[in-house]
Amino acid sequence: MNHFSVILGKPFGALLESAGTERELGLVEPEMLQELVRKHRVVVLRGFRPFEKKEELVAYARRWGPLLSWNFGDVLDLEVHDSPKDYVFTPGSVPYHWDGAFAEHVPTHQVFQCVKAPVAGGRTVFCDTGLVLDALPESLRRTWEGIKITYRKDKTAHYGGHITAGLVQSHPHTGEPILRYAEPLDPDAFLSPLFLEVEGLPDDLTPEAFFSDIEKRLYDPEVAYHHTWQDGDYVITDNHALLHGRTAFGAGSARHLRRVHVL
Ligand SMILES: [Fe+2]
Repeated sequence: MNHFSVILGKPFGALLESAGTERELGLVEPEMLQELVRKHRVVVLRGFRPFEKKEELVAYARRWGPLLSWNFGDVLDLEVHDSPKDYVFTPGSVPYHWDGAFAEHVPTHQVFQCVKAPVAGGRTVFCDTGLVLDALPESLRRTWEGIKITYRKDKTAHYGGHITAGLVQSHPHTGEPILRYAEPLDPDAFLSPLFLEVEGLPDDLTPEAFFSDIEKRLYDPEVAYHHTWQDGDYVITDNHALLHGRTAFGAGSARHLRRVHVL
């Protein structure tokens, strides 16, 4: 008996809808979902009973693997703060990045629960970096493979510091080529800026030209999926294969997501 249907998204992603209402997410085997996430990168689960307590979300996510704990605990409440110290807690946009860049271990999966969807905007944007690499001209691909980027950010929230990462890396579980990239954040536009230093650019490619070219490629509709949240959505992602960001939303529009990281 089918308890749910799977609808494929464009250009990637899958929506798994519960056939009945208020079914338990726990009835969907993590092993089956892990396979779907490996294949489709993002899986949206809709029509399931919302977990009321954070502990329920944590208990479910633990079935996927050990969790990455932060200084605030296992669950990040993504919502607007009254006096935010970091841009993620404002209603502003969040440019592309991967989670855990500054952490000791990069989490494999993000597990989100949408407690309250915004009325408009506040979409999460995912970029399938394998698709970006597939579309690159051969010579540019070779250039990108030689690039290393140093990222610097003050620790204004639970993350920050100073790391150097190759732009093209291998997916730690599948070995597929992936991109690791976080967009620069201008101090004039963002509460907590991110500075990039790019090594390995050929003489005829300035950092500015590189930034604008990669931006165009990462936001190409052929490689990006915009998720419009609905109350109660669960979203599970492959944090190694994807980059993600967010569009801005109205300051008065409540938006509350919970997020757990699975290592
Ligand atoms: Fe993030």
